[in-house]
Amino acid sequence: MISKNMQEALNAQINAELWSAYLYLSMSMDADDKGLKGSAHWFAHQFKEEQEHARKLAGYLQSQNAKVVLAPIATVQTEWPSVTAMFEDTLAHEQKVTAMIHELCKLAAAEQDFATANMLQWFVNEQVEEEDAAREIVDAFRMVEGEKVGVYMLDQKLGAR
Ligand code: FEO
Repeated sequence: MISKNMQEALNAQINAELWSAYLYLSMSMDADDKGLKGSAHWFAHQFKEEQEHARKLAGYLQSQNAKVVLAPIATVQTEWPSVTAMFEDTLAHEQKVTAMIHELCKLAAAEQDFATANMLQWFVNEQVEEEDAAREIVDAFRMVEGEKVGVYMLDQKLGAR
């Protein structure tokens, strides 16, 4: 059994994960519109991963006999000035998500909710990977900024994800 506070916080995180999914789907559409098929594929993959994060949290709530409440998903940006800007926003967004996960960890610690703290460890590790992946791509796109061939090659590479 988990506290009402924790139930609400985890439901809010489900909404945040689904918003992330929505954000990356939007980026995927915009990347495709810009002719960047590899980046579109990368974001489509990310869209799926975020849905899995939401499902993981929902599954945990259900295993704790707690109610999953699916709230409306807020609107997202639909266009970016460049693919570099998309990945910069990705990194900034993942840093925010990391902070959210850490807040959940603090709540679990304060409530001595060992089961939730244990479940959240997966997300703590996942966020390290998510930030690292986004940072690497931001650095790479910044390096080739303004060089069409470089952007094309990098985009192709992202299509292999
Ligand atoms: Fe679900 Fe990208 O964090």
